[in-house]
Amino acid sequence: MQIITEPAEMQSIAESLRLQHQFIGVVMTMGALHNGHLSLVRIAKQKAGTVIMTIFVNPTQFGPGEDFHRYPRPFEQDAALARSAGIDYLFVPSPEKMYPEGFHTTIDPGPISSLFEGRSRPGHFSGVATVVVKLLNITQPHIAIFGEKDAQQLTLIRKVTGELNIGTKIIGAPIARESDGLATSSRNIYLSSSEREQATVLYRGICHAEIETGEGRTDLAVIAEEAESLIRSMPDADPDYVSFVDDETFEPADKALPGKAYRLVMAVRIGTTRLIDNWRFVCP
Ligand code: PAJ
Repeated sequence: MQIITEPAEMQSIAESLRLQHQFIGVVMTMGALHNGHLSLVRIAKQKAGTVIMTIFVNPTQFGPGEDFHRYPRPFEQDAALARSAGIDYLFVPSPEKMYPEGFHTTIDPGPISSLFEGRSRPGHFSGVATVVVKLLNITQPHIAIFGEKDAQQLTLIRKVTGELNIGTKIIGAPIARESDGLATSSRNIYLSSSEREQATVLYRGICHAEIETGEGRTDLAVIAEEAESLIRSMPDADPDYVSFVDDETFEPADKALPGKAYRLVMAVRIGTTRLIDNWRFVCP
């Protein structure tokens, strides 16, 4: 595994791999690698001959007061995990290389970036879209794998790359979960042991929705409210939003129509840690 820190060097390696007819897959991360990230790598390895991983804690997608400075950066451990997962190139640029002085260009992904995660985190999705497009241009991949854990991010990346005619195929990967259902996340390490127990309530909210819709209920707004009250019953859980959305547009959905796909999306603060989760459902 080669570790590359210079954007120009990474781009020229990617260009020469393409000239050698290598099929390139990329997995973008902010590091603190866990099973969720590694499940993306496994998909990339199945589909691509050369796999590039990027590790970059992107400052422009964190708002003021968010955890940019305390975000975990266990680089040696990450590099060892990436190597043993079979990554060929690990691209780890510095913020100064990605955003040199005088950098101004940003991508505005439109209305989807002001819903849910975007409403709670102004500027977040513009930061994500801009860094993802930069990393795609630097690594020149044929395919890029993103997790459904960040479903709104995945939808937005599909939209932005489609609208900007970026040739990379975007592939979604299922949510990796801990054995008690909690979605695996780099932020789970912030939880105290009592908070970690309470955090399973997000998955229990999802299970409630799965059971109720499974019984044929279509009143999505009411089911989401029930899931939200279940979550609120934990002393340290403070839901930011719990809502069903149209799976394509992320517009809130109150009632399920046959044949359409919906997603229950949620963001919940457990103590000071903000967790997100979601579940997709197709109305029969
Ligand atoms: P990060 O949170 O490190 O996640 C990197 C990738 O791993 C994303 O595609 C995310 O959806 C996926 N992922 C995280 N946890 C997962 C889980 N439990 N199951 C499946 N996939 C999971 O998302 C980002 O970084 C950044 O916004 C990034 C796209 C790298 C741009 O900076």
